[in-house]
Amino acid sequence: MSAARTDFNDRLLSLGLARVAEQAALASASLVGRGDEKAADQAAVNAMREQLNLLDIAGVVVIGEGERDEAPMLYIGEEVGTGSGPGVDIALDPLEGTTLTAKDMPNALTVIAMGPRGSMLHAPDVYMDKLAVGPGLPEGVVDLDMSPRERVEALAKAKDCKPADITVCILERPRHEAMIAEVRETGASIRLITDGDVAGVMHCAESEVTGIDMYMGQGGAPEGVLAAAALKCMGGQIFGRLVFRNDDERGRAAKAGITDLDRVYARDEMVTADVIFAATGVTGGSLLPRIKREPGWVETTTLLMRSKTGSVRRMSYRTPTWPHDEA
Ligand code: FBP
Repeated sequence: MSAARTDFNDRLLSLGLARVAEQAALASASLVGRGDEKAADQAAVNAMREQLNLLDIAGVVVIGEGERDEAPMLYIGEEVGTGSGPGVDIALDPLEGTTLTAKDMPNALTVIAMGPRGSMLHAPDVYMDKLAVGPGLPEGVVDLDMSPRERVEALAKAKDCKPADITVCILERPRHEAMIAEVRETGASIRLITDGDVAGVMHCAESEVTGIDMYMGQGGAPEGVLAAAALKCMGGQIFGRLVFRNDDERGRAAKAGITDLDRVYARDEMVTADVIFAATGVTGGSLLPRIKREPGWVETTTLLMRSKTGSVRRMSYRTPTWPHDEA
């Protein structure tokens, strides 16, 4: 690969990024609701990689499908693109919500973010404690050191409403039982999701549409960085603290160059420079519609955003079904 250029032409690259997200979604379209998570994921991975390699970038995957020894494609450190353009960092999840896709449940997305080299936290594949709210609120209105009750009360105060008017999104997991109970005690409502916390966090940025005011709980750290990239474009706050359950996980942090294991990362510490972000809806949800399949054609909708300008586009793309699938 030739020496990387340093200019990150985000405006020019953004349409290419939308194409990457679209093609990953199209590749998984025929696998929605077919009960095969692995096949859906593999189809999205293959398509995303193929499209990325058409872009004139010297890209490095910093958030990807896993370590090189466990993921044959789009692994952390893989170089992608033609190599002739700017040097960029890429965070991706070709199919965020593999189970959602297999079961045709809401909010499965293909997700990709791109920024200049060094712009995104190299989050190891461990859990992250996350807390997010939408735009227009005082900085630090809620924080990770507050209890769930304190967070709801602080947000209600800032929004000049009652706790009962707040809706919190939480992943439905046994590890969140105490948190869910405490939030319920405040009178707040909870939208429980079975998977897909990138979408869960993004919902906070459009609360008037999605009905969600705050996201909290533990999910994947790589997904935390992707969500931070999305909120950097849409507005809103996210805080994340890595969670380590054993020495193997602490070892992954060391490998990623992380020494302060208790650090709380704010949005702009996870994503330190302006980025572009694209997500295509696979199954339908409150942020993006599902892939529409009709005899002879297929249509996707992609959210394409640039943090430099705060622009948020929803782009629909329609194409004949060939050569993607004849089924
Ligand atoms: P996949 O798309 O890899 O299935 O991940 C979905 C997801 O729900 C993420 O959105 C979330 O961060 C993570 O899994 C939660 O992990 P766990 O299922 O271990 O609680």
